[in-house]
Amino acid sequence: MKIIICKDYDEVSKRAASLVIENIQNSPKLNIGLATGSSPIGLYNNLIKAYQNKEVSFREISSYNLDEYIGIERSHPQSYYNFMFENLFRHIDIDQKNIHIPNNDLSKIDDIVNDYNQILHENPLDLQILGIGSNGHIGFNEPGTPLDSETFIVTLDEQTRKDNSRFFKNLDEVPKFAITMGIKNIMYSNKIILIASGKEKAHVVKQMIKGKITNHFPASILQLHPDCTIILDEDAAAQLS
Ligand code: GLP
Repeated sequence: MKIIICKDYDEVSKRAASLVIENIQNSPKLNIGLATGSSPIGLYNNLIKAYQNKEVSFREISSYNLDEYIGIERSHPQSYYNFMFENLFRHIDIDQKNIHIPNNDLSKIDDIVNDYNQILHENPLDLQILGIGSNGHIGFNEPGTPLDSETFIVTLDEQTRKDNSRFFKNLDEVPKFAITMGIKNIMYSNKIILIASGKEKAHVVKQMIKGKITNHFPASILQLHPDCTIILDEDAAAQLS
């Protein structure tokens, strides 16, 4: 693991953006795995700025999102589909046909899971962006997920639902299920960049980097990835030394 410690979230976001841009410049047809949550929002803002300043084009890249809630429509303000369009896609020149976000139509969910997994097999990721959940989840791979899991339907942890309830009116509104890439899909990416900031993440960051590798703390598996960069602000890195 390569650990980069930045002064604050602003610097984390800029650093992550410059790495992503460098990867796109080296490989304009990059297959990139994208994450939702608060952590990558600053990265996405910086990518939008770089596009507006004509420093980068997303025209030929393909994106593959980690996960999506089940039980809310794609048009719901908190769907990850909506998140990605609001925070990135509608501001850049990515080709709509190259955007992949797991569908969440319950009537076809088994086919959707198989098809998404097949797409990931046929289009290996060059770079995966990740955040980390307060229970060590990556994507929506909750504690206990087998390390060799591929795209599947997950029952969300109560902790995850509580954490994410800040985006909904109340806890009852937070979906109980989601579709997520599995840990194996994530680990298969050629490169990984994980972003974490804030003192609330300090203990999980420590466990991810220094703790035992176990499926009870999914992010710990990243210790085994050959090209994983962790970008932290000083608060999130506080328990590392
Ligand atoms: C969600 C997403 C994860 C994300 C995590 C942390 O549950 N499924 O991909 O990493 O939340 O979110 P945040 O960055 O808001 O702390």
